[in-house]
Amino acid sequence: MHSATVRKIIRAYDDPIVRAYCWARFGILRQRFLDEIGQYLPAEGPVLDIGCGFGLFSLYYAASAPGRFVRGLDVNGGRIALARRAAARLGLDNVAYEEGDARDFKGDGEMGAAYMLDIVHHVPPASVPPLLRALRRALPAGGRLLVKDVDTRPAPKRWFTWLLDKAMAPAVPVHYWSADALAGALEGAGFVVRRHLMVDWLPYPHVLYVCEARG
Ligand SMILES: C[S@@+](CC[C@H](N)C(=O)[O-])C[C@H]1O[C@@H](n2cnc3c(N)ncnc32)[C@H](O)[C@@H]1O
Repeated sequence: MHSATVRKIIRAYDDPIVRAYCWARFGILRQRFLDEIGQYLPAEGPVLDIGCGFGLFSLYYAASAPGRFVRGLDVNGGRIALARRAAARLGLDNVAYEEGDARDFKGDGEMGAAYMLDIVHHVPPASVPPLLRALRRALPAGGRLLVKDVDTRPAPKRWFTWLLDKAMAPAVPVHYWSADALAGALEGAGFVVRRHLMVDWLPYPHVLYVCEARG
């Protein structure tokens, strides 16, 4: 069952295909998982959502904490336009969107926290360590980076995720990182990493990496 906030966000999009995507996406990252992820975000200050897509999670985390300012970044200009329109419809003034490639993100030291939800496997693997280092530079010591992605094991769950990724965007290459490899890349970029297992009855090998910038 979707919460009232989630239902309001879904209604803020006109396009029935986008709404169907929102229902599916909020079905996968449903209320329990929104809370599991959200508990690690500061209730105040600037938060960066890398690869925000249509903006549904940035809208949710902005709507659920008015003291937060969520900045969404995505390479897809069409999605950014839809996210901006939805934010305006919802009357949210603590969220903003920007079109841009995460690989060009330099880190300006002004973020309190950042998150990436199912983005890492869409970024070419060689570009991931530089992106993680840029995110480290953008955060203060102790600042949080949350990365939600999928593990490579168990293999049947990875194949299930691959089929869905290919159904959504057949031409977009994906590279799944094993939990050990991604945790290692995060540590190498300057984070202390804790894994939060998001146990699901759906066949997704979700892993949430809760990272704190080392001093
Ligand atoms: C699976 S969707 C996830 C969107 C959103 N985070 C969510 O959980 O619904 C992946 C998103 O990553 C974006 N993306 C992929 N590569 C990117 C890059 N290099 N820079 C910024 N966004 C990127 C895509 O445009 C797409 O919106």
